[in-house]
Amino acid sequence: MVRYLISPNCSDFGQPNMDLNIFPDGDSYIRIFEKNPDIVVHRLYPKQNTALFCSFLFINSLGKKVEMISPYLPYSRQDKIFAEGEIKSSELVCQFLKQAGVSKLITFDCHFLKKEGEFEYAGLKIKNISMAKALISHAQEKFGEIEVISPDQGASYMAQDGKHMNKIRGSYKEGEHNLDEGAREIQREVDVLDSDFDVKNKNVLIIDDMISGGGTMIKAIENVKKHGAKKVICAATHGFFLKDSFQKLSKLTDYLFVSDSIPTNVSKVSVWNYIKK
Ligand code: R5P
Repeated sequence: MVRYLISPNCSDFGQPNMDLNIFPDGDSYIRIFEKNPDIVVHRLYPKQNTALFCSFLFINSLGKKVEMISPYLPYSRQDKIFAEGEIKSSELVCQFLKQAGVSKLITFDCHFLKKEGEFEYAGLKIKNISMAKALISHAQEKFGEIEVISPDQGASYMAQDGKHMNKIRGSYKEGEHNLDEGAREIQREVDVLDSDFDVKNKNVLIIDDMISGGGTMIKAIENVKKHGAKKVICAATHGFFLKDSFQKLSKLTDYLFVSDSIPTNVSKVSVWNYIKK
């Protein structure tokens, strides 16, 4: 029998057997009730820095190697260096997980892998499962025949026949929020998004690995509407829906849904169905 150590942030997957609390000064308090697990189940988002650090602590404390199920891997978008001095955080996060004792990370639609399968990245074994089929089936159940398109080449493995739009991102822009002393919010918005295929009078599913600030999906919706799409459905594996993106997207689409890799009000398919042993 597989023994799980389940974090309180995964109580929708099973009965947690770990306490994760915060001391008044912000330090984390961790207590585990399964000392010899085979698999650790812990979300690394939201509050990714704390969630990651806690995972380093409790996995290390086990003194053995374990598999880890984390539906979304934070820092997976920091896999390229655009400007001198930037850090390739995706690699470091994977190294730290390995050093903590993760023998294999089981995750979903990992941004830097861009396909399903078993990989080794920065020394960490990763099993990357795609929710594309589950998302597409859900949309087909609701809308019948649909044209499936991803907003860019990176997520084209999620679309049938690899159909994708062409996305060009602009440079980093400073956001309006001052997050902390010395730390300003930065983001890269989509500048251009175009396509050269026919969606006229078709129901279109736009599928992506994630909806973060929503800019990509909004541009993709505008694009298919401009080309005469009938109904526009939007789906992603990871739904962050930052700021007012959920409200904006809800107004623009006929149906919007994601998986429960990050629990949301529109999580319609469960990653757990693809991992439980
Ligand atoms: C980018 O390459 C990703 O696949 C997503 O398209 C992107 O991260 C979504 O971000 P946002 O919702 O902020 O446009």
